[in-house]
Amino acid sequence: MPRDITAEPLFPLDDIQGDILTGLPKRHEHLMFFTIVEPAAFKAFLKALHVTSMRDCLQDRADIEAQKKINSQLVPTPGLNVAFTFAGLRALGAIEAAQLPDSDPFKAGMAKSQGTLSDPPASTWRTLKPDPNLHGVFVVTGASHAEVVDVMSLRLAPPTAHGWRLLFEEVGTVRPEPVVGHEHFGYADGVSQPGVRGRIDPATPFHPSVDDANPDQAAAGQDLLWPGEFVFGFPGQDPSAASFATKGPNKAPPVPFMNFGAYLVIRRLAQLVPEFNASVKAASTAIPATADKADPDLLGAQMIGRWKSGASIINAPTHDDRAVGDNTPDANNFEFGGDREGLVCPWAAHVRKTYPRDDVRHDTTPDETAIAAAEAFTQTHRMLRRGIAFGPEVTEREALSGVSNAEMGRGLLFKCYVTSIADQFEFVQAQWSNASDFSQETSGIDPIIGQAAAPERPFKGAAPVSRDPAKKPDFSLKSFVRMQGGAYFFAPSIPAMRGL
Ligand code: HEM
Repeated sequence: MPRDITAEPLFPLDDIQGDILTGLPKRHEHLMFFTIVEPAAFKAFLKALHVTSMRDCLQDRADIEAQKKINSQLVPTPGLNVAFTFAGLRALGAIEAAQLPDSDPFKAGMAKSQGTLSDPPASTWRTLKPDPNLHGVFVVTGASHAEVVDVMSLRLAPPTAHGWRLLFEEVGTVRPEPVVGHEHFGYADGVSQPGVRGRIDPATPFHPSVDDANPDQAAAGQDLLWPGEFVFGFPGQDPSAASFATKGPNKAPPVPFMNFGAYLVIRRLAQLVPEFNASVKAASTAIPATADKADPDLLGAQMIGRWKSGASIINAPTHDDRAVGDNTPDANNFEFGGDREGLVCPWAAHVRKTYPRDDVRHDTTPDETAIAAAEAFTQTHRMLRRGIAFGPEVTEREALSGVSNAEMGRGLLFKCYVTSIADQFEFVQAQWSNASDFSQETSGIDPIIGQAAAPERPFKGAAPVSRDPAKKPDFSLKSFVRMQGGAYFFAPSIPAMRGL
């Protein structure tokens, strides 16, 4: 069926905070966690605060594209978004305790989901420990550190006069050229994001379709989803529909104040990069003589499901291929249906775990109906990821020793926007990445973010290149990502904040 954009909602561009659907363009990002000291002063401050809207962000992105046509100079893009904890919304009188059930993860806080997520105990976290005084976060971004401090000086200072106090900060920095946008293990990040339906003016879709033959895809392989999955007040997906393209019911906000807003999940995830590299090297050299040989690059790519360029292992099974890597039309042009035995891309590979595309749970010979039903269900567990790397580059000493310098924490400040913390972020982490029987009974856990009590994790179906299961060695890998703290926030619409 051709796409009928008139059936899609018109976004209130001045109302929705820019980071949610468009993403604040950034090379630097400071997450400034605050407490509200004087609610009246803080509300007055919010009324006048210049919060970067979706319209601002679209303009920034258009400016960046225009600049690219002239030269590679960076465009200044100072940005500011705001999100609140449940305690913060209570302090502002925006929500009553009784309006959300105690079981709601936003109300309960991330630490209460420790069992669900298999997280380390909150007492061991180094940041964002449960704290009733943590009321919110300013998300401050820019192409340079100079813009970030400009935003702080010109929009946020002085805290005391505006009724807030800084508790602590987390600082993210995009990695240097040519690995801009790559996470610290070295792989291009942010390659796959959901396409989002909706219009930015009556005649213009936010994400146009790739072409008339693929009206339900924003780019090849990038399915268009209904925006209620990511912002309250719009239609979402229908998990019981025969097709993911079917419009689902309106995602109504739990309280009217939350209309046109989204939940924000923040997690500090430390990455043991020298250990990751030493381990893929050791594992690939220890492959028994009866199995095919594989190199560390292939093993690493099979753990992620993509090569460092972002090329999917499905599209590039034996070696990295920038022609299908990040920022190419085919970066997301793949499904797993041609690899139902998990012999090219292991079932546990991070991207196969976190977005299983056309995989069907516990079924390696599904029919078309089962595949369509599985896809419709899968599309209700997506998220808009907005993470950024933190910490310094690996030093020569660390690279040679294979051991991280304990003083030099590095990793990912994971951020994502959703309208259900339980069904989207928590579901993916707990039911897919941590579950050794997803998607198939012998999949094993996600070698990147899977969390489990056992220190060693079996990793099956990886190198070698051979599609002969008998020649696949059984690896046992350690975990290389440490969850060091996190919290749940809510990013309201700009008018909702001004109306407090
Ligand atoms: C340090 C931790 C992490 C690292 C190093 C990491 C790395 C990556 C990389 C390299 C990709 C492939 C490129 C892309 O499509 O963007 C990716 C994709 C993805 N990651 Fe992560 N990630 C981490 C944490 C997480 C967490 C905590 C979640 C959610 C629970 C998550 C969910 C996803 C999703 C949904 C995708 C896209 C899958 C797809 O659509 O193909 N990641 N990640």
